Amino acid sequence: MGTGNILVVLLLLVLLLSCAPAPRETPTATPTPSPTPMKTPTPALSLRSLAQARGIQIGAAVAAGPLRSEPLYAQMLAREFSMLTPENAMKFGPLHPGRERYDFSDADAIVDFAEAHDMRVRGHTLVWHNQLPPWLTAGKWTREELIEILREHIMTVVGHYRGRVVAWDVVNEAVADDGSLRDTIWLRGIGPQFIDMAFRWAHEADPDALLFYNDYGGEGRGRKSDAIYALVKDLLQRGVPIHGVGLQMHVALGWHPKPQDVAANMERLAALGLEVHITEMDVRIKSPATEEELAAQARIYRDMLEVCLSAENCKAFVLWGFTDRHSWIPQFFRGWGSGLIFDSSYQPKPAYDALMDVLTATD
Ligand code: XIL
Repeated sequence: MGTGNILVVLLLLVLLLSCAPAPRETPTATPTPSPTPMKTPTPALSLRSLAQARGIQIGAAVAAGPLRSEPLYAQMLAREFSMLTPENAMKFGPLHPGRERYDFSDADAIVDFAEAHDMRVRGHTLVWHNQLPPWLTAGKWTREELIEILREHIMTVVGHYRGRVVAWDVVNEAVADDGSLRDTIWLRGIGPQFIDMAFRWAHEADPDALLFYNDYGGEGRGRKSDAIYALVKDLLQRGVPIHGVGLQMHVALGWHPKPQDVAANMERLAALGLEVHITEMDVRIKSPATEEELAAQARIYRDMLEVCLSAENCKAFVLWGFTDRHSWIPQFFRGWGSGLIFDSSYQPKPAYDALMDVLTATD
């Protein structure tokens, strides 16, 4: 080989080496884990960082599907919220599909995600009249059998998440709009005692969890709100373990409680020693929403968060989702939508800015 050829070979070698990836500095014993789950550092300005400084939790209902399949959905949840409520995964039907069969997979995935991102979990819900499994609704049960089914369900579910769920919606929507107890499988089969029983079993299964009665339409003043107040007062007087009331706050443009009425309601519940959480807020708008309507929606979010911040017993402000891309509204209220604080492309809406504003305000 002539000198010229040797030079060409040397040049090629140098070129090759400079293109090769740099060797790792310290070879690790274990393979690098795959890039999920993401542990996004909480940026300085987010709903959750501001809410933390104000001493409340800010939360959202979460659906197991998009949490698994849409990285942006998961990323935004972790960035903006400090509390999660499984939208469906902890309900009786999804969780307990056969008399002897439980399926914790979706609910576990949500609780794992919350813990990985230092978020609290609200458990929702143990006793409700909707989303019950067919084996239960189609069965003919004696009172004793139904009591045993409910006891076993509550002990198993609350026991499974013992120490990992900070608050449970133990009983959901047991009061009808006229203030009487709602006619449900539980009331018919067990009698009004199902409420006491549910709270006692939940307390037995996790003595540290906060136990809530949760409902809609009783956020401000009125017949239903009075009935809920009377119900929880009676539970307390009889020594039933209950720690709070969940105000769902599914409201609409043109149909929402007056902020001062919500404040008064929170105050009378505080006088009983009860915490309150806004548990499922959304503000639906007739589709398509105009700019003015989005501004009016922002006003309602602003007012309700202000009320919560001023109430000594309001410790959590939870929305029923966070993006209009995943919301129960279009399906359940025909012709309505746009209820949440991010649009369906995950862009913040005026309602998001309003919440940020309220959390930043100094007085
Ligand atoms: C809704 C969910 O958002 C829907 O996905 C589901 O199909 C039905 O239930 N009050 C409650 C929530 O307590 O559990 C409901 O959630 C909305 C009304």
